[in-house]
Amino acid sequence: MLMKAMTRRQWIESIGAAGLALGCGANALAAPAIIRKPIPSSGEDIPTIGIGSWQSFDVPASNVAGRSNCTDVLRKFFELGGGMVDSSPMYGNAQAAIGQALADIGDTPTLFSATKVWTSGRQAGIQQMEEAERLWGVSSFDLLQVHNLVDWSTHLQWLTRWKEEGRLRYTGITTSHGSRHQEFAELVRHQPFDFVQFTYSLGNRGAEASLLPLAQEHGKAVIINRAFQGGSLFSRVRGKPLPGFVADFGCQSWAQFFLKWVTSHPAVTCVIPATSKLHHLEDNMGAMQGRLPTADERQEMERYFDSLG
Ligand SMILES: NC(=O)c1ccc[n+]([C@@H]2O[C@H](COP(=O)([O-])OP(=O)(O)OC[C@H]3O[C@@H](n4cnc5c(N)ncnc54)[C@H](OP(=O)(O)O)[C@@H]3O)[C@@H](O)[C@H]2O)c1
Repeated sequence: MLMKAMTRRQWIESIGAAGLALGCGANALAAPAIIRKPIPSSGEDIPTIGIGSWQSFDVPASNVAGRSNCTDVLRKFFELGGGMVDSSPMYGNAQAAIGQALADIGDTPTLFSATKVWTSGRQAGIQQMEEAERLWGVSSFDLLQVHNLVDWSTHLQWLTRWKEEGRLRYTGITTSHGSRHQEFAELVRHQPFDFVQFTYSLGNRGAEASLLPLAQEHGKAVIINRAFQGGSLFSRVRGKPLPGFVADFGCQSWAQFFLKWVTSHPAVTCVIPATSKLHHLEDNMGAMQGRLPTADERQEMERYFDSLG
């Protein structure tokens, strides 16, 4: 576990050194810088665009072409600077598909592995996460989250112990679709999770009322799920042009519009759009290029999106 963390840190440092060296004069050989944000509890910064795996990676081993596609998508994700891969035992074959892809790709130094415990009871939770380690082919996870608050007080105890023992780097908890926000807010206020994950998108801004400011106030890293509302946001903008001003911060598509809007909220650490398509992945990863919109630009994006009806 420690070995893995050190390797990643060393790799990031070496990339930083290389970037600095190239910045000092040589040709533009360095990859374009990507937008990163810090995890409040540690200061470690991570790429703002991760990847989800619900449905998109639920591919059985018998679907050889589908598994190969998962590998291609994840390989490109890492090539473009991706970090967080999010999964759960709830997502059918997704963890096995991720594990196969990671083995096929081989070296994945930027991987930030994140899965979830989704069962009741201490022993069942521990067994589920040991099985997840086996499926992913990792010796430990960067982040283990309690999925949808299921038996969270039981799991928080052993997850905290694992973290103290160095078997886990970060703890977290998730919800989605705006559900149970009041109860979730209490956990943000009073429980020592490093990460909180919930839904936020231009089509669902409910988290602005309490979860986002609370997470910021209490030093939680925030992962946003369903930034495309499961893909339905694209139907709302089909055939509509992007407003001209978004080119100022390097936004070239509607996917990047949706993702840059989410990641530019000051409380948000990263977003985990899901895709099964290579060209969509490349599009989404473009939201880590350029800069993030300012507060005024965010408001202008909201006004423009809302005007589309
Ligand atoms: N409670 C929880 O813990 C919880 C709940 C929900 C979600 N999550 C996590 O959050 C992740 C994201 O949420 P989600 O999967 O529900 O929805 P999402 O990321 O909002 O949307 C995914 C959909 O958007 C489409 N898409 C992706 N990139 C696109 C692009 N550039 N252009 C056009 N379409 C694009 C995908 O289709 P294609 O495959 O065709 O690209 C897919 O249908 C999940 O996969 C999961 O890891 C967690």
